[in-house]
Amino acid sequence: MQVVGPIFELRALRQQLSGTVGFVPTMGYLHEGHLALVKQARIENSNVIVSIYVNPTQFGLREDFGAYPRELNRDLELLREEGVDIVFVPSDDEMYPPEFSSWVDVEKVTERLEGASRPGHFKGVATVVAKLFNIVQPSRAYFGQKDAQQVVVIKRMVADLNMGIEIVVVPTVRESDGLAMSSRNIYLGPGERQAATVLFKALNLAQQLWWDGEKDAEKIRRQMTSLIQKEPLAQIDYVSIADAETLEELNLIDRPALASLALRIRKIRLIDNMPLE
Ligand code: PAF
Repeated sequence: MQVVGPIFELRALRQQLSGTVGFVPTMGYLHEGHLALVKQARIENSNVIVSIYVNPTQFGLREDFGAYPRELNRDLELLREEGVDIVFVPSDDEMYPPEFSSWVDVEKVTERLEGASRPGHFKGVATVVAKLFNIVQPSRAYFGQKDAQQVVVIKRMVADLNMGIEIVVVPTVRESDGLAMSSRNIYLGPGERQAATVLFKALNLAQQLWWDGEKDAEKIRRQMTSLIQKEPLAQIDYVSIADAETLEELNLIDRPALASLALRIRKIRLIDNMPLE
């Protein structure tokens, strides 16, 4: 496994590869969710490239960029075990030199949900992913269903800008009690960790109601909300039943939909979702 920092070195290595290239962009501090993406990329491609880069432009001013967990040596060990060919670890100076002034701004699908709660977040995500795609030139790129809106945004960008990269979405990996794996879960204290299971419970309730034939989205949102309100440590940011493609809130569930939510468990903000399709 080769570990490279400078962009010119990555490009030189990329040129020597033949066959397909599966790419997994990450911000490091890898968990089973990331490794599921890597495993699928390994099965489906001749070569696998993973990037580790904590992208400053997708964090808001009051968010946890400085405190975001980082553990490069452990990450590299895990990636070596998965048979990754190249790990790209670029520096801030190369990704965002002082004269940097071009941004990718995906409209509409970024206005709701995470986009509304975290202004500028998806501009940072789309910009860094576009840069990584240009540098790595993958055949396929792998993203987790856990960040459902990110997937919608990246698919839109790839289609709009004719990038010709296949976007592969991998199901969310969960702890045994249903909590979706996330690098931010380490911030949860024991009581908070228990309280965090309310996200999965609310999504299960949504899915159960929908399986039972409930088509009224507002009724489902209300039932999810009242379940969450029984958890004293949880504070709701949003509870959504939206069109799976446009992310517009639905009244009637008459097409593929996405149940999603963002909660604060004390200070820790967590998101999760479940497709209703
Ligand atoms: O999902 C993530 O970890 C990040 O948003 C990504 C796609 C690596 C871009 O920084």
